[in-house]
Amino acid sequence: SNKISIGILGLGTVGSGIIHILENHKKELIAKTGVADVEIRKVLVRDLEKNRDGNLDSDMLTLNAEDVLEDPEIDLVIEVMGGIDEAKQHMEKALKNKKHIVTANKDLIALHGDELLEIAAANHCELLYEASVAGGIPILRSLTEGLASDRITKMMGIVNGTTNYMLSKMTREGLNYEEALQQAQDQGFAESDPTADVEGLDAARKMVILARLGFSASVQLDDVYLRGMSTVTAEDIAFGQQLGYTLKLIGLASRSDEGVEVSVEPVFIPEEHPLSAVHDEYNAVYVYGEAVGETMFYGPGAGALPTATAVVSDVVSVIRQVRLGTGKAQVAPTINEETVLKEPE
Ligand code: NAP
Ligand code: HSE
Repeated sequence: SNKISIGILGLGTVGSGIIHILENHKKELIAKTGVADVEIRKVLVRDLEKNRDGNLDSDMLTLNAEDVLEDPEIDLVIEVMGGIDEAKQHMEKALKNKKHIVTANKDLIALHGDELLEIAAANHCELLYEASVAGGIPILRSLTEGLASDRITKMMGIVNGTTNYMLSKMTREGLNYEEALQQAQDQGFAESDPTADVEGLDAARKMVILARLGFSASVQLDDVYLRGMSTVTAEDIAFGQQLGYTLKLIGLASRSDEGVEVSVEPVFIPEEHPLSAVHDEYNAVYVYGEAVGETMFYGPGAGALPTATAVVSDVVSVIRQVRLGTGKAQVAPTINEETVLKEPE
């Protein structure tokens, strides 16, 4: 039958959002893909006893990854468990078993994306990761499809929801650092270990993915000049405000004749600049293309439903491509450009 069966690895913030969208938008998904049904078959978790939202049948939950990865009925695996080594092993096994993959895992894609895309291509499978950058904003698709004809030379933006949420709460509501971080964690914006958020590593991973796709360049995490916001205090923020500046954690990727430069650091932005009006968990990515000029993409950068829309839209893409017979993971072609490490100022 032309029913699509899905296995999910992880049922936390993003996994729950995915279940919600697959259930509540089923009619739209069926109409947009032309399949008879899109069903969830198995979901891997760590704890079977946990209270979970939504009306997922408890028989679907499993502690055994093989129930997802080795089930011949499962066509597509959604990886939203996070982490690197175990998630990578599961993805490799799924691809070798000819299952397409959709993931939100920027840690893994930034580190091992090229290798996984090669494995996907060798197995004639799709591997899509729209949700890995800027949550609900379809920025990867915009770079690889919407702006495919252009030569992009600069991308700049706020790509971490947790730190932007914290800075907003510290600036606008006077919360201290710990209170603001706790609220971001309570709302499901932060990573399970929020060090990656506040130290800027999460934003650096996302900038690597943007730079690879936007510039068709080979960019690695070590190439990023990185300064996080763990040392930022309420006093720093207040001082900037008195002078008409808003503090933001800014990712910057640029390409010139000398090569590609990528950085993440806290920057004082003039209050009249559009990025200073991006509040809470919202993200924004400015993209400059030589032909199109200036473009700006804005939307929620973290959280269950916004992130899940990106995941499920990738599921729709996979189904369409497989049905049309065009399904093959696209290994990003690399135009040889030097990557240079930005010097600390
Ligand atoms: P989360 O709330 O911590 O959920 C993780 C889920 O995976 C939980 O259901 C957990 O099981 C399960 N899990 C983790 N390790 C496992 C293991 N070894 N074996 C079996 N199950 C395991 O995380 P999340 O916020 O949904 O994030 C998931 C992924 O999406 C991460 O890669 C993250 O970076 C990415 N992401 C998150 C957001 C966001 O806003 N939260 C946005 C974009 C991308 P239990 O429920 O049993 O504990
Ligand atoms: N922890 C991430 C953030 C989740 O706050 O942006 C979205 O990738």
